[in-house]
Amino acid sequence: MDYSTAPALVTTNLQLIMLYLIPLRLLLLAPPAVGDAEAEAKLPLVLPNRTRFPALHALYAPLLRALRAGDLYAYRAHAHGAARKVLVHRHLAAAIERLELFVVYALLSRVHAKLAETGDPSRIDIATLTRALSLSVASPHMRRQQLDTGIEPVETSPPDSSEQPEDEEEEESIEDGDTIAYLVQLISMGFIKGYVSPDNGVVVLRKTRPFVIEV
Ligand SMILES: *[C@@H]1O[C@H](CO)[C@@H](O)[C@H](O)[C@H]1NC(C)=O
Repeated sequence: MDYSTAPALVTTNLQLIMLYLIPLRLLLLAPPAVGDAEAEAKLPLVLPNRTRFPALHALYAPLLRALRAGDLYAYRAHAHGAARKVLVHRHLAAAIERLELFVVYALLSRVHAKLAETGDPSRIDIATLTRALSLSVASPHMRRQQLDTGIEPVETSPPDSSEQPEDEEEEESIEDGDTIAYLVQLISMGFIKGYVSPDNGVVVLRKTRPFVIEV
């Protein structure tokens, strides 16, 4: 949707409030207080009613869906593509970029849950998380390629134009340093309980509920 030709995005004060409240609730999110271990915190991913607020829904649904799925590519494709104009116009672009940290959080928590199915997930190789993040930032096309070959796609492969975000950027690449930076941020903010041990190339997580906010 081209929001510049959709003036219906905000026609009432209620819609204006919702426009800012949806990202703000996430930005202002604090992890549950220490000792409040019973508190079941959930990410506040509440979408506006699709029938009543179709434009707001169209703006935020793809972002929140991608956030919940831990899909950085889909998140950026919408934020930098269809939604870009309105996000810039409404001074929300920086907030939406800041919230990428929660996309990463959702992804890491999914990897942790997956590893817990087959073993002890309290020590995870940074390299494993880097690989998950690399898949998450890759376009669906590049993702298939990475999964098929198990190696990084060659730089010269032609881009699949149908799957690129509107204003195309360089293919993102994630390195262990990026993964560590994400982990350190999320740990210092209190959303993940554990510590990074760079010398051993692992993150060591608390045994019980190291991801304190449910996605
Ligand atoms: C959304 O809004 C429509 C129209 O006002 C209403 O009929 C419907 O029940 C609402 N849906 C939810 C889930 O609240």
